[in-house]
Amino acid sequence: MDANRIKQDFQVYEDKTLCYLDSAASSLKPDRVINVLDEYYKKYGVNVHRGVYNLSYIATEKYESSRQTIADFINADFDEVIFTRGASNALNVVALSYGMAHVNEGDEIIVNELEHHSQLLPWQQVAKAKKAKLVYIPLTIEGRITTENFQKVLTNKTKVVAINHTSNVMGYITPLEEIIPLAHEVGAVVSVDAAQGVPHQKIDVKSLDADFLAFSGHKMLGPTGIGVLYGKEALLKEMSPVEYGGDMIDSVEKYESVAKDAPYKFETGTPPIGEAIALGEAVRYIEELGYENIREHEQALKEYTIKEMQKIEGVTIYNPTVETGIIAFNIDGVHPHDAVTYFDGDNICMRAGHHCAQLVTRWLNVVATLRISYYVYNTFEDADQFLTSLKGAVAFFKSVGF
Ligand code: ALA
Repeated sequence: MDANRIKQDFQVYEDKTLCYLDSAASSLKPDRVINVLDEYYKKYGVNVHRGVYNLSYIATEKYESSRQTIADFINADFDEVIFTRGASNALNVVALSYGMAHVNEGDEIIVNELEHHSQLLPWQQVAKAKKAKLVYIPLTIEGRITTENFQKVLTNKTKVVAINHTSNVMGYITPLEEIIPLAHEVGAVVSVDAAQGVPHQKIDVKSLDADFLAFSGHKMLGPTGIGVLYGKEALLKEMSPVEYGGDMIDSVEKYESVAKDAPYKFETGTPPIGEAIALGEAVRYIEELGYENIREHEQALKEYTIKEMQKIEGVTIYNPTVETGIIAFNIDGVHPHDAVTYFDGDNICMRAGHHCAQLVTRWLNVVATLRISYYVYNTFEDADQFLTSLKGAVAFFKSVGF
């Protein structure tokens, strides 16, 4: 994959010194995605499903055909794709609708310390409200979820497994192909946070057999404010809406109302129309690049970077065996917020903090971590710019007595 050529698709790279290493927080957006969004607002920026006029038909047709593009992309059926405001919103819908209706006193919900707050916190609320128990999968010494450890906490009381596809802090891929069938054997449903998965590798929801799967547009070259919740048709059919209002309802009487079928009963009010259409364009862009090429490219960058980082004294890498383009590390004795300010001085964007997953930071027994995350537009020149800056940062903090 020629990342130098790919950079030309992103206007932000007119700044030739920019080294963007924070795609796990939000990816950059290619011009063609921005153009599709722009075109919606400039040429047919009206509502969907409501207007009996040509512009509204155009908007509705493009909105719904984007749903089909996304359904094909993850091998779901059309009605199984719900547009949400993002992955967090999608995961909340699962907990608040499915969880509140099906989890009862004494039931167990399996979670783990790698989960993003958007996956963990909604289930904390369900557990509290329903007097259910949150059960944690023990992590390995590397901080990984394994099938073996999952089996240690799986019981006949397990009703839900809330789990990530790829950890946003450690970058590890969860063995879902083994975990999901085991969860199904005890009758549990599995809700997958794939916000860090879908941007980087092919996910076929039918072969994975996840019951629910959520992802965000803005981490996969699409706009902010749009995400997707996939749910199996049979589950969505019997679930209640979480929000009530316009467009999601079939008929309204004085004291009763009847909701539409999925996906519409979960899309209350005017949806992010242009954003949903532009997400379809992001999907086409990813498909043109090809997942195999994306993965191979990220692997090569990650391997080179880790090998070089390991030569620098005073740097601790927390996930040296990681299989994705996410590297979690610290400069020994230096607060990550101080370090990240140094990197910013070299026009390098990366994340420092707890990454919306405080339990991981606690598990690592550190105050916070630094994280770089690679994507399609990153080059080996980016890796070298980062490595040079890292050496400079280590020397600088040493010289000022850290
Ligand atoms: N969840 C995003 C991250 O990992 C924001 O940075």
